[in-house]
Amino acid sequence: MTPEQFIAGLPKAELHMHIEGSIEPALMLALARRNGVAIRWQTEAELRDAYRFTRLQDFLDLYYDGCRVLLQVADFHEVTRDYLRRAHADGVRHAEMFLGPQGHTMRGVPLAVVMQGVLSAMEAAEAEDGITSGLILVAQRHRSEEEAMALLAEAEPWYGRILGFGLGGAELGHPPSKFERFFARCRELGFKVTAHAGEEGPAAYVREAVELLQVDRLDHGNACLEDAALVKELSLRRIPLTVCPLSNLKLQVVTDMAVHPLKQLMDAGLCVTVNSDDPSYFGGYVNDNYLACQQALGLTQAELAQLARQSFEAAFMTEAQRAQAL
Ligand code: HPA
Ligand code: ZN
Repeated sequence: MTPEQFIAGLPKAELHMHIEGSIEPALMLALARRNGVAIRWQTEAELRDAYRFTRLQDFLDLYYDGCRVLLQVADFHEVTRDYLRRAHADGVRHAEMFLGPQGHTMRGVPLAVVMQGVLSAMEAAEAEDGITSGLILVAQRHRSEEEAMALLAEAEPWYGRILGFGLGGAELGHPPSKFERFFARCRELGFKVTAHAGEEGPAAYVREAVELLQVDRLDHGNACLEDAALVKELSLRRIPLTVCPLSNLKLQVVTDMAVHPLKQLMDAGLCVTVNSDDPSYFGGYVNDNYLACQQALGLTQAELAQLARQSFEAAFMTEAQRAQAL
């Protein structure tokens, strides 16, 4: 059995992907045409060629720009349905997806349009393919805590359909501490909470996410390795890390997959998972991420299976949902 076949056959949960980061170039061009939105690129090749980043902000500029093609319910439905179809083909049984409503509402797209499109695609995917999914709304950290609070209030009609809240966007200069009250309120309301931390930011940001925001999961979290006491705490408390290897490579968080810290994080006893982050921008879906790590780090079948098992442990699922997914 090839590593590709072994990875494809593993039942997986994907826990760190942004719906807006899964717009394939062909769909971006089609939506731009359909909605009469002018974009800088004419062909799929031009778009792919533009996806060269030296840091997180380069990517975010392009990502927010790309969001402009999403205007109608059908657009949000299509991008979400496409991702869930690809995930299902990769052996993903359960996906927890990030959605960044501020990137849409600030452009004048009503939250109801966004939610209707995304939720109807989640329902269709479960009915047609049996893949279950959950939604985590992320606040943009370059915006104020008041804006995050406004997002929370605006989302109230959909509280029953939302799994949790998270924090994404430009990390440096926007520490988790900026959102302490927002996270406290989300937790009070019974939501699960996650935060991007330690992608470009330091271990201190990871510590803040754990201690001040009291996150249930860390998105990325790579930088925790700079703080041995923190690693020990994450390991003892089994706080999961949603690691995104190809994202780290594309955003130059690591210089080469051969030096990616995934194996170190596993060897430190952490509940690590492998995820695609923004698959259409970073050149791969979840199986591509598993494979890149297997090849560069020489992961064994047992280690690959452990990563897949941990993805279910880290998922915000009940035991009954877990049993059903496996
Ligand atoms: N990091 C921070 N914010 C993001 C990312 C990321 O990798 N993708 C989409 N929003
Ligand atoms: Zn992310």
